[in-house]
Amino acid sequence: MRHPRLLSWVRDIALRSRPERVVWCDGSQEEYERLCATMVASGTLRKLNPAKRPDSYLAWSHPSDVARVEDRTFICSEREEDAGPTNNWVAPDAMRATLDKLFDGCMRGRTMYVVPFSMGPLGSPIAHIGIEITDSPYVAASMRLMTRMGRAVFDVLGSDGVFVPCVHSVGAPLASGERDVAWPCNAEHKYIVHFPETREIWSYGSGYGGNALLGKKCFALRIASVMGRDQGWLAEHMLILGVTAPDGYKTYVSAAFPSACGKTNFAMLIPPHGLDGWKVTTIGDDIAWIKPHADGRFHAINPEAGYFGVAPGTSYESNPNAMETLKRDVIFTNVALTDDGDVWWEGMTKEPPAHLTDWQGQSWSPGCGRKAAHPNSRFTVAATRCPSLDSQWDNPDGVPISAFIFGARRSDTVPLVVEAASWEEGVYKAATMGSETTAAAAGKVGQVRRDPFAMLPFCGYHIGDYFSHWLAMGKAVESPPRIFNVNWFRTDPDGKFAWPGFGQNMRVLKWIVERCRGQAHAVQTPLGLQPEYDDLDWRGLNYGPERFQLVMSVDGSQWKSELHAHDELFAKLGAKQPAALSQQRRELGARFAG
Ligand code: OXD
Ligand code: MN
Repeated sequence: MRHPRLLSWVRDIALRSRPERVVWCDGSQEEYERLCATMVASGTLRKLNPAKRPDSYLAWSHPSDVARVEDRTFICSEREEDAGPTNNWVAPDAMRATLDKLFDGCMRGRTMYVVPFSMGPLGSPIAHIGIEITDSPYVAASMRLMTRMGRAVFDVLGSDGVFVPCVHSVGAPLASGERDVAWPCNAEHKYIVHFPETREIWSYGSGYGGNALLGKKCFALRIASVMGRDQGWLAEHMLILGVTAPDGYKTYVSAAFPSACGKTNFAMLIPPHGLDGWKVTTIGDDIAWIKPHADGRFHAINPEAGYFGVAPGTSYESNPNAMETLKRDVIFTNVALTDDGDVWWEGMTKEPPAHLTDWQGQSWSPGCGRKAAHPNSRFTVAATRCPSLDSQWDNPDGVPISAFIFGARRSDTVPLVVEAASWEEGVYKAATMGSETTAAAAGKVGQVRRDPFAMLPFCGYHIGDYFSHWLAMGKAVESPPRIFNVNWFRTDPDGKFAWPGFGQNMRVLKWIVERCRGQAHAVQTPLGLQPEYDDLDWRGLNYGPERFQLVMSVDGSQWKSELHAHDELFAKLGAKQPAALSQQRRELGARFAG
């Protein structure tokens, strides 16, 4: 490794944080095993029963450290207006002064790991490199599952290649002789900090994935969205999947959903009975980097190399491919432990086991009134374990994208599927998306919050500028993808889900893919282009026109208040509201008035 800037940065962080030792990670299997063994010895990890779940581990976090902390996440741009109304802003100098204090000696008694990683296939023109410094072996081991991590990154970097510096500390220094706890973190101070101009990340006080695995939300979304704005590409909270039709033709689509809305399920979908000739393959389940390609289309890569998925609700019914992915080589966090040394979470099986140890280490039995697994409990596993992994997932050229799909969790108002008639209409729909909140972020659950492009907690700059960037990107390629909205979560008058979801979403996906190929019919409605009952393929499913009507219906009075909520969002943008979106709003209003 001959990279003077990198070396002096590592030296500087070590001088400030004063770890007991510094370890440069090489990304090898032996190193991963060593890290896991260290954590088993320290009580951070429990090794699961090798007969049930080979080479797998369970971590239970501190009960205060179970989710991303959006209110402790900061975009420290030089100018406040560049962070915009959806981010917490602190002036860079003030934040640096705070960080100086926090990081002074914060790694005492701990090992500081230097973790080189590539987001995306090594050397790909769509990929970028980061180096994470962390005092958490859980983070170092998780980064090996979640990214292309290791020595080869230094070859790509050469002697002065560009990398995003990511500094992480659990914020729990150890006095000499002090015994460590199983999940060190700082219950009082948490800071997830981004400096967009200098493209730096500093994270303090949390060991939880989204706060601590800095390649993911911090780099691949917040910092990368800024890079994309400056360099003419897109960093999105999107899964990427391939759909192969019975005639062998393959279409790639990318889909954005807010956290914990089933992105992993959709990315690994198995077509239902009746659509047997169709096949879905997985490129990514959470993040897409999308750049204009010489062929006149957008090409996308998954910058990650693993899945950090929500465990509860994952089952052989909802996502058989995920269950197969999780058979071995997994780090689970905050799920329950079975008496025979395996894992369990709500929704994994219809009947819960008669006895478990819950995620807080307490004895648990059905009906005790507590959840066995935390609602935001997670699995961390390498993509290569996934049976539906797409053959092109590691292609440095990326895959050409034919459609962008935007989905949200709405029990009413938004229909099952609608296609935008133009790029601008699609950008409007994505910008005004609202979703009922889930447990992935700390805070209230079940309220509708505007979540533009499913990027609300992840856009690293002013959201109005981000809308303008999207509008401009429609002109960056000859053949931009079509844009669709979906909603799997409509409920019937009894409050039950009216759409069967999961594998049955293939019926909607098939229509979308056929629209891209010019093969499927749609009718114009006030919202855009929508299928009629006979435009979807119902083979193998008993789902009548009345049910279809229920999930497709568009209620004028609900849309009046919906448009109101759009206006509230736009009011926050002030002068940054793009004229093209005001125009879309006017046209939409007129269609509902008429
Ligand atoms: C995630 C999230 O962890 O969106 O993917 O919260
Ligand atoms: Mn996500």
